Amino acid sequence: MRASVCRDPVMTTLVLSDAERRKLDESDDGLFYAEPRFVQHLDAAFRARLTRLYQERIPAGAVVLDLMSSWVSHLPEEVGYGEVIGHGLNGQELQANPRLNRHWVQNLNVDQQLPLADASLDAALIVAGWQYLQQPEPVACELLRCLRPGGVLIVAFSNRLFPTKAPRIWSEGSDADRLAAVARVLIAQGWPRPELLAEATRARGPLGWIGGHGDPFFAVIATRP
Ligand SMILES: C[S@@+](CC[C@H](N)C(=O)[O-])C[C@H]1O[C@@H](n2cnc3c(N)ncnc32)[C@H](O)[C@@H]1O
Repeated sequence: MRASVCRDPVMTTLVLSDAERRKLDESDDGLFYAEPRFVQHLDAAFRARLTRLYQERIPAGAVVLDLMSSWVSHLPEEVGYGEVIGHGLNGQELQANPRLNRHWVQNLNVDQQLPLADASLDAALIVAGWQYLQQPEPVACELLRCLRPGGVLIVAFSNRLFPTKAPRIWSEGSDADRLAAVARVLIAQGWPRPELLAEATRARGPLGWIGGHGDPFFAVIATRP
């Protein structure tokens, strides 16, 4: 059964080399995120695009996991979901997130097993988070286990990052390399070929009126067969 394969780290198909997993700051990620950051990591143009994508892809009533979350989940305010489950590294940020019904704290670079039942989710979201995963393969495997058939995974990111905390696969790659790297990891764990989005955004306000750009928008979207 797929679930038992995913629970077994030996059966995870490794894609990254050891060198690609390394990062400049190898200290405990929990220390880096110990103090809450009540800031927006992505600009308003990116966030508006992301919320529109969620409106299109996640039905009302869905059980949603916001993995690697913070005090914001970018979900459309007017849509009611069955449950929104949050995960991250800072409990205070998660506690302040008004969209979350419940949450937990777990360092995914230490332990990749998610405390969620098989096929219990309709949607799983990672925003500006995949870039910090040193072991993305077992995380991709766990997400496959936890989503129900037809459930959607949306991994969204821009070109911003905490550079010392991102593994080399991310910090040294181009935008296209990053999209390809996420897709490669997913496919190797049994996900079907994902849809890739790479879009410019228009800045909000006066800068946008004269053609200024916002944060570029990238997303990898995969549906569990
Ligand atoms: C740039 S923030 C993005 C937060 C949120 N998704 C958003 O859209 O604002 C990166 C998040 O990744 C999570 N994260 C980073 N390293 C992690 C790790 N090793 N294990 C679990 N979560 C981690 C933290 O919770 C942090 O809030």
